[in-house]
Amino acid sequence: MGLCGLGTVGQGVVELLRRNQASIDVQAGRPIELVRVASRTPKPMVDLGGAAFSTDLADVINDPQVDVVLELIGGEADARQLLLQAIEARKHFVTANKAMIAAHGDELLPNAYEAGISVGFEAAVGGGIPIIKTLREGLAANSINWVAGIINGTSNFILSAMAGKGASFDDALSEAQALGYAEADPTFDIEGVDAAHKLAIMAALAFDCPIAFPAVYTEGISTLTAEDIEYAQALGYRIKHLGIARRSARGIETRVHPALVPEQRLLAKVDGVMNAVVINSDAVGSSLYYGPGAGALPTASSVLADVIDIACNRAARPLSINGEADRLNMAEVDTAYYLRIPAVDQPGVLAQLAQILSQNAISIEAVIQREQAIRVTGSTSWVPVIILTHRVQEQAMNQALETIQALPEVVGQITRIRVEPLDEHA
Ligand SMILES: NC(=O)c1ccc[n+]([C@@H]2O[C@H](COP(=O)([O-])OP(=O)(O)OC[C@H]3O[C@@H](n4cnc5c(N)ncnc54)[C@H](OP(=O)(O)O)[C@@H]3O)[C@@H](O)[C@H]2O)c1
Repeated sequence: MGLCGLGTVGQGVVELLRRNQASIDVQAGRPIELVRVASRTPKPMVDLGGAAFSTDLADVINDPQVDVVLELIGGEADARQLLLQAIEARKHFVTANKAMIAAHGDELLPNAYEAGISVGFEAAVGGGIPIIKTLREGLAANSINWVAGIINGTSNFILSAMAGKGASFDDALSEAQALGYAEADPTFDIEGVDAAHKLAIMAALAFDCPIAFPAVYTEGISTLTAEDIEYAQALGYRIKHLGIARRSARGIETRVHPALVPEQRLLAKVDGVMNAVVINSDAVGSSLYYGPGAGALPTASSVLADVIDIACNRAARPLSINGEADRLNMAEVDTAYYLRIPAVDQPGVLAQLAQILSQNAISIEAVIQREQAIRVTGSTSWVPVIILTHRVQEQAMNQALETIQALPEVVGQITRIRVEPLDEHA
């Protein structure tokens, strides 16, 4: 095989192959040999075990001894080009690149299948957790109802720090960066794009539909406050950044956003940089898959598992065989809501809010309005009114919030966070 990209994951693959060479060869039923490596910058300190090195990725594709190409360079354009070249050269392909698979998988995976090559992307979702294999093989006899996961370790680390220490978002992000859990530019992680890439891939496997990355509704965590986390805890919830894919009679919904999760759910207890995915399916019910979602060796574990599958001729079945599915847009999705409404502290305001919600067929499950939370801005004394609602279609909530936001008694921006019970019916 040949390796493109000698960064964190590439070096992890080299190390894991060296460490477990004998057992990997047994699993594969033949020797797995790294014959060539290409990466932008030479890394003479990395022992390549005799593999040839160059800085030109084409050398990997063109080497006649390379039958499997590992794409570990990241990014979209060059990685897509590499996959096209591998298809052209009829070489199997293994990648950890969720961005490339999410953006170009619908276009390129059918071509690869037609050309008779395998494309493995276990490492693209959940790092070391074998979630692709679980969806594709382990639960193959099930009909999957929904998938919900904490699939971005950076966001989960930040939310855990905010919940555990009462840290602000900015302080928690700085800590994540200092510890190497967040990139210098953390946008993809904190704005939910990375999680959306992974969710789109999981949904395609769960529901046998195209990846359709643009259909994923995406919200990040950058506007969450320690105050919301504290109120959620008072109501018996934890705030987690979830990717949710659900199939109902009305269609498939794919969405990534912060959500209140009941504190007794296992997913609510997943902290730090760890990832976890719950799959709800008809025969098994809910099953949970937990583990490291990133890191050199966990990710290399998934990359090499794909290589072993290819060596054993366990070719993955193609995606998207059933064509496009009905997709729900966010306005059509049903969820419950947590609302934080900054409202003037005077009698009758709560009744007014309840009336508007009721007019939009939204019923209230709980309210918190603490006397000690009263604040003063200028000459206005106001208080955060916290409302938990029952399930309702998002468009009804949008209408209600538009009316409430326009009230003169509402003195600031309303915060709305969805609530996900993650029970058998979620
Ligand atoms: N890190 C993780 O824990 C993790 C987990 C799951 C999935 N992934 C995915 O795995 C992939 C690799 O991630 P990584 O963390 O290993 O990234 P990385 O540390 O930045 O490594 C990428 C390597 O590829 C080289 N490279 C990039 N573009 C190139 C090009 N056009 N030509 C030649 N070499 C090129 C880079 O060269 P330089 O050394 O010159 O920069 C670097 O050595 C990404 O798709 C990522 O999303 C990573």
